Amino acid sequence: MRILTLPSILSYLAFASALPTSHAPLTASSSVAKPLPLLIWHGLGDTYDADGLRETGQLAEKINPGTYISYVHVDEDSTKDRSGTFFGNITTQIAQVCEDLHQDTNLTSSDGQELRVDALGFSQGGQFLRGLLERCEGVKIRSLVTFGSQHNGIAQFPACGTYDLLCKGATGLIKGNAWTDYIQNRVVPAQYYRTLNETTGMPTQDYLNHSNFLADINNERRVKNQTYADRMASLENFVMYVFEEDVTVIPKESGWFAEVNSTTGEVTPLRERSLYKEDWLGLKRLDEKGGLMLKTHPNGHMQLEDEVLVDVFKTYFGPEEKKRGGSMDLVKDVVLDAVAPAQRVLLDAKEYL
Ligand SMILES: *[C@@H]1O[C@H](CO)[C@@H](O)[C@H](O)[C@H]1NC(C)=O
Ligand SMILES: *[C@@H]1O[C@H](CO)[C@@H](O)[C@H](O)[C@H]1NC(C)=O
Ligand SMILES: *[C@@H]1O[C@H](CO)[C@@H](O)[C@H](O)[C@H]1NC(C)=O
Ligand SMILES: *[C@@H]1O[C@H](CO)[C@@H](O)[C@H](O)[C@H]1NC(C)=O
Ligand SMILES: *[C@@H]1O[C@H](CO)[C@@H](O)[C@H](O)[C@H]1NC(C)=O
Ligand SMILES: *[C@@H]1O[C@H](CO)[C@@H](O)[C@H](O)[C@H]1NC(C)=O
Repeated sequence: MRILTLPSILSYLAFASALPTSHAPLTASSSVAKPLPLLIWHGLGDTYDADGLRETGQLAEKINPGTYISYVHVDEDSTKDRSGTFFGNITTQIAQVCEDLHQDTNLTSSDGQELRVDALGFSQGGQFLRGLLERCEGVKIRSLVTFGSQHNGIAQFPACGTYDLLCKGATGLIKGNAWTDYIQNRVVPAQYYRTLNETTGMPTQDYLNHSNFLADINNERRVKNQTYADRMASLENFVMYVFEEDVTVIPKESGWFAEVNSTTGEVTPLRERSLYKEDWLGLKRLDEKGGLMLKTHPNGHMQLEDEVLVDVFKTYFGPEEKKRGGSMDLVKDVVLDAVAPAQRVLLDAKEYL
């Protein structure tokens, strides 16, 4: 249950009725604008119907009542959805998700042309949402929030649990063959694996030539895709959280688009990289308008507390006007009585990406 203090309701309504009506026409029956729909893309080894994910969605709905939530999946069958986090061609998966989203009439605007949404990505789901934004015609994201993602790839494949045959199958296939088409077509984490040349400090030619996903969506190849950069720059908020104690994502600073020298451990922050300085991906433009946020969260990989989720849902998601008209402080008056300091376990094994 949420409690609104009377003065805040009155001032909110006064504010809301003064808003331009182009984005969400206000009617007598809906005096508070409808929240943008929310896409949630889960991580490696998880499924779109997992309890932890659904609870996260319920929390988002509680903070911004009326939010339509779409749990991104590559298969309706949750066993296949989970295996699709290890095996598959990410290019194909993103194209399919793009098509599915366009079929969902709850997501499309009244003219049916455009999907304007917020997006929440957990671990590898974070870079996949970015791929979706860059490649999927008609999808417009206002706020993209990622937790423990691998925006700059991984330098090592994750260690698998003893009984995790899917994970072992995937990493076993990769062994020494990461850059073959066979692996790049099939093994998901291999498609955001990234290696540096020890002599030059630059990405290896193998990565640039063969990476099926990351080298492309990060615009690291010689020929840049301007559409990718423009779509990234069109975000209002791109919020990247890194878990301070993350030992699953190697290197964890990948979650901030930083580059790490694996020998010395030296970190080159995003703002010092060519990718940013030469604005290959629109991130500099986005930063200059105040839309780029690098944040930390205590804990290990994907050990999220409700508090941080509540803060994210209040600050970046919800009705369109919230971020446009500066009514955020009013919305923050919403008091939640049942936000337990619970820890949300989003993945069933800590080694997953
Ligand atoms: C669209 O939303 C309605 C109402 O929330 C729901 O009943 C329906 O299942 C949704 N459609 C899809 C495709 O999710
Ligand atoms: C750039 O990306 C857009 C969107 O995915 C795509 O339609 C276009 O073909 C790409 N351009 C090049 C040169 O690859
Ligand atoms: C992945 O799928 C895309 C689209 O179907 C295809 O063009 C590509 O050849 C596949 N494999 C790789 C390694 O890119
Ligand atoms: C690293 O770069 C050097 C200099 O360009 C080159 O000679 C070497 O073959 C590269 N090594 C790898 C593993 O790509
Ligand atoms: C890592 O740092 C060492 C020492 O500065 C340097 O020799 C090496 O080239 C660096 N490696 C990469 C991949 O940048
Ligand atoms: C990468 O591609 C270039 C151009 O096609 C080619 O000359 C080079 O040998 C390739 N290198 C690797 C390591 O695949």
